[in-house]
Amino acid sequence: MQGFTPLAIFLLLSALFSTVLGRTLTVYNGCPFTVWPAMFTDLNVGSARPNYPTGWEAAAYTHVTFTVPDNWRAGRIWGRRNCNFSGNNGANACLDGGCNGGLQCDSNTGTGVPPVTLAEFTLSTASSTPDFYDVSLVDGFNLPMSITPTGGCHVANCPHDLGPNCPAALKGPYDSTGYPVGCKSACQVDPNPQNSPNCCSGSHNTPSTCPSSGVQYYSYFKSNCPNSYVYAYDESSGTALWSCPSGTRADYTVTFCPP
Ligand SMILES: *[C@@H]1O[C@H](CO)[C@@H](O)[C@H](O)[C@H]1NC(C)=O
Repeated sequence: MQGFTPLAIFLLLSALFSTVLGRTLTVYNGCPFTVWPAMFTDLNVGSARPNYPTGWEAAAYTHVTFTVPDNWRAGRIWGRRNCNFSGNNGANACLDGGCNGGLQCDSNTGTGVPPVTLAEFTLSTASSTPDFYDVSLVDGFNLPMSITPTGGCHVANCPHDLGPNCPAALKGPYDSTGYPVGCKSACQVDPNPQNSPNCCSGSHNTPSTCPSSGVQYYSYFKSNCPNSYVYAYDESSGTALWSCPSGTRADYTVTFCPP
């Protein structure tokens, strides 16, 4: 090893392990109640997925930390509310956000039942392409959430509880005390979701034929949560989809009920 200083060897090993080890994801439950976080990777988009359970129970004010691949694509994390898995592994085991599979979501079909707030990630290893991330309300809202990157990149969030003041047509579901634990999207309650300006479907399936002005209740969600992704083509708002240079190799914290 003549000629290799300990520092050079350390730097070499660091470079080697950083490409292998990926990024650190922390999931913190800041809510004063239990949340059952869930994770899904769309395997139609990419094959890399975290080596971590796809669902777990998070008591109030607890966190977990795990590694996600540098090339994790189309990954999402959300919170499930008021779950009871005893004798029930179906998507209806939770009041909202439930998935097929029970505590751990099925890796092929285990997406969250709306209304559900989503933290979405597509990370990048290519210098020409940044990481993309957002807090999505496209499937409605069920918990305040934030994504905080390291490295000075912008926070994506919906920090407010949109349940209590939710428009009557969208409000709910309700827990046993009558409290609204969600606020549905206009698409979710649309009688004709196959061809609707609320869903950007049918003859409204492009950015120009599906402006935010045609989405009912858009301003309720966007004015309360301006840094979230509110409807299918919300990128034009400029504050929906966030990015972080891949060279930053940011770590991310997902928080339920951020302060
Ligand atoms: C969960 O569901 C089981 C089976 O239906 C029921 O016996 C139990 O009381 C429930 N637990 C809670 C905390 O609601």
